Amino acid sequence: MSTNSFVFDAPAEGYFQTQWQAPSNIALIKYWGKYGQQLPHNPSISFTLSQCVTTTAVSFSLREQGTTAFDFLFDQKKQPEFHPKIQQFLDRITPYFPALEGYHLSISSQNSFPHSSGIASSASAMAALALCIADFEKQFHSDWTEEGFLQKASFLARLGSGSAARSIVGPLMVWGHSKAFPRSNDQYAIAPAVKWHPIFHYYQDTVLIVDKEQKKVSSTLGHGLMQGHPFAPQRFKQAHTHLEQLKTALISGDLERFIDLTEAEALALHAMMMTSNPRFVLMQPNTLAILQKVGDYRTQTGRPLSFTLDAGANVHLLYPKKERKPIMDFIRKELLVYCQQGQHINDQVGNGAKKI
Ligand code: PMV
Repeated sequence: MSTNSFVFDAPAEGYFQTQWQAPSNIALIKYWGKYGQQLPHNPSISFTLSQCVTTTAVSFSLREQGTTAFDFLFDQKKQPEFHPKIQQFLDRITPYFPALEGYHLSISSQNSFPHSSGIASSASAMAALALCIADFEKQFHSDWTEEGFLQKASFLARLGSGSAARSIVGPLMVWGHSKAFPRSNDQYAIAPAVKWHPIFHYYQDTVLIVDKEQKKVSSTLGHGLMQGHPFAPQRFKQAHTHLEQLKTALISGDLERFIDLTEAEALALHAMMMTSNPRFVLMQPNTLAILQKVGDYRTQTGRPLSFTLDAGANVHLLYPKKERKPIMDFIRKELLVYCQQGQHINDQVGNGAKKI
């Protein structure tokens, strides 16, 4: 797909202000390995979440000569450590919206979840910022459809952080070309026009905070580890196959298959990290204790509780909403002891970003 259709120029004039709230997402089929400008080596699919969100307000004013491109507040405070990432994002997206160069952006952001909880916030943060910028661009497009707007927002978000491309709409988003999803592509994520089984409506995600530290392996380093990885070709092929199989389970409501595939994906992600050069073990003893207990609980009770993992020690516990009561009792009694200060976040599948 050519990226020319994403280039849009407009005159630098006027003032504009907007605010968007974008959710985090949790991948069921994992994106791990990229090339070119944030393009994925394999397709991924994620649940869009609803409680873990970033809210970002941006005002665009004409930029005077010699002034900076942006100023940034996080939780109402100056946080210069975020500047390089924002600058890199603006540098990457400006070729697709050159008028931005004529503007100064005043950006103010906050998260609904603690920044130091070990939950990656780049997906929701980049998606919220991308939506504000796409909303600004929309002022100059009298003919833009909702679909065109969302595609551009996802395209821009991807340039900030790959997984952010999937934090735009819900309940499930596919990013990367897969033969199972006709409109899927590497440039932006889509919410497939598929009737998912109702068991996945408001599917629960309880995030167990095993380690609050920031990620030990940065995204860029992590994806780079797949370059020349001895298992990379098999892994990319596996992700394609898993996605095709998962689509069937998500439509039929086959929870056994859903659990089997999503847990296999989480462990495949960590297997890639454990066998790369350099190698990383990001799971901790408490992570493994939780995985063991989840498996035992499922065998003993038959309840469909399963796990998935990000590139870190924390565990996302997935289960249907109707099972919430007994499963939360189990989590409280048996699993919170493995969390730092018992910290956990109760989230569920949601419908995507919104303008505030
Ligand atoms: O968006 P990035 O570059 O932070 O990569 C995210 C990678 C995983 O979270 C491990 C998997 C995924 O698909 O979200």
